[in-house]
Amino acid sequence: MKKLSRTQDKNIQVGIDIGSSKFCCAIAEIDPSNQNVKLLGVGSCPSSGIKKGSIIHRDKIIEEMEKAVTDAEIMADIKVNRSWLTISGEHVRGINTQGAIAIQKPGQTPSATDQEIRIEDVYKVLELAKAISFPVDRNILHTLPQEYIIDTMNGIKDPVGMSGRRLEGRVHLVTVATSSASNFINCAEELGISVDGLVFQGLASSIATIDKDEKELGVAVVDIGSGTTDIVVYLDGGVRHTGVIPIGSDSITNDIAVMLQVGKKEAEEIKLKYASAKASMASPELEFELPVKNGGISRKISEHELSRYVEARMTEILNLISREISRADIHQKLTYGLVFTGGGAQLSNLAGLAEETLNIRARIGAPKGISGVVDVASTPHYAAAIGLIQWPLHYQDTQAGIHAGLTPGKVFKKFTAWFKEFF
Ligand SMILES: Nc1ncnc2c1ncn2[C@@H]1O[C@H](COP(=O)(O)OP(=O)(O)OP(=O)(O)O)[C@@H](O)[C@H]1O
Ligand SMILES: [Mg+2]
Repeated sequence: MKKLSRTQDKNIQVGIDIGSSKFCCAIAEIDPSNQNVKLLGVGSCPSSGIKKGSIIHRDKIIEEMEKAVTDAEIMADIKVNRSWLTISGEHVRGINTQGAIAIQKPGQTPSATDQEIRIEDVYKVLELAKAISFPVDRNILHTLPQEYIIDTMNGIKDPVGMSGRRLEGRVHLVTVATSSASNFINCAEELGISVDGLVFQGLASSIATIDKDEKELGVAVVDIGSGTTDIVVYLDGGVRHTGVIPIGSDSITNDIAVMLQVGKKEAEEIKLKYASAKASMASPELEFELPVKNGGISRKISEHELSRYVEARMTEILNLISREISRADIHQKLTYGLVFTGGGAQLSNLAGLAEETLNIRARIGAPKGISGVVDVASTPHYAAAIGLIQWPLHYQDTQAGIHAGLTPGKVFKKFTAWFKEFF
């Protein structure tokens, strides 16, 4: 193998998306002067050691992860030594909490007059918001501030420097099963890759596919993978809800295999080639031949007939998605509706079916916000990997209030240290 000319330095970000159907590694260079994310290389490998986000075959994971990383390394001509990873699965849970403190100057008791809020006060509030008891083997992965409230003023994004007597913080916590997270970290470390941190797959996908306006006015990002569907609901600029449904696009493949009596591989090919989420958009006249098994007779089926099965399953998945979004307890319509991403979002006419079934605006979200070799990672199933390489910048953004006055390098070190405390 050709020797790689560069080793990963501090401006190189690497993300490995660990999916039930594929590993995808993305390598990017961040320009510190303008925070531009330039994609340098991408590598993929089908995965066979993961089912619905959980490890079922460790050795296969290591082998397949290595293949995806090596391909990306060759393309970028950079040797990877650290990376961010995605995590998903039914064990991922989201919860909204809050914490509040009386503002006081160092060494003083809380006073009756307004005091300036310092960064330490914000830290204290966040610590209190995180101080809830979880079952054993469960830890906080993300602490995502939604808003701060100073006395009676709400909706504050960055309270540092403002004055008041009481500071309250509302946050969304994402928790994961510790054992699941540490197993993925071990697999990466076995390849000589130290782990910068883990990011919930749905959150990573949302970073790459939606903009500030959508987060502000309300949107639900729905990452339809092969085995799981990840959901992240945003409103007023913050995350209001996260959830994982243990069903993905593979269920459509399984239905096709059962209904048409074909193997899974053939069913997958048929899905990619002929399926439509809306049967009414598929022609009854366009027929295709089914694979012949064991010298049997040849059979034909129309795209319309196939799409009837697909529509039925997709409608069921959409209803599960709608039920999960309703758990966000938001009493207003999400202005920007649904943004579908992940490989399953590539099913034709999906947005149309969603609009019709759920009476809500819908679009397909492909990764954006990067430069470089964008053409090799322009489809929705790259969203989580592209979101990962954008994550460190996004993290600084959302935590700006907490880290005001700290340089990006220090923020990063702080986060890494915090992350290591848990794993
Ligand atoms: N054009 C297409 N039409 C329909 N489905 C598609 C299309 N392209 C890909 N898919 C489906 O997308 C799924 C893979 O998506 P993706 O790569 O996002 O999954 P993953 O991230 O590996 O899985 P998970 O998120 O569940 O862990 C497969 O089930 C595949 O059949
Ligand atoms: Mg996925």
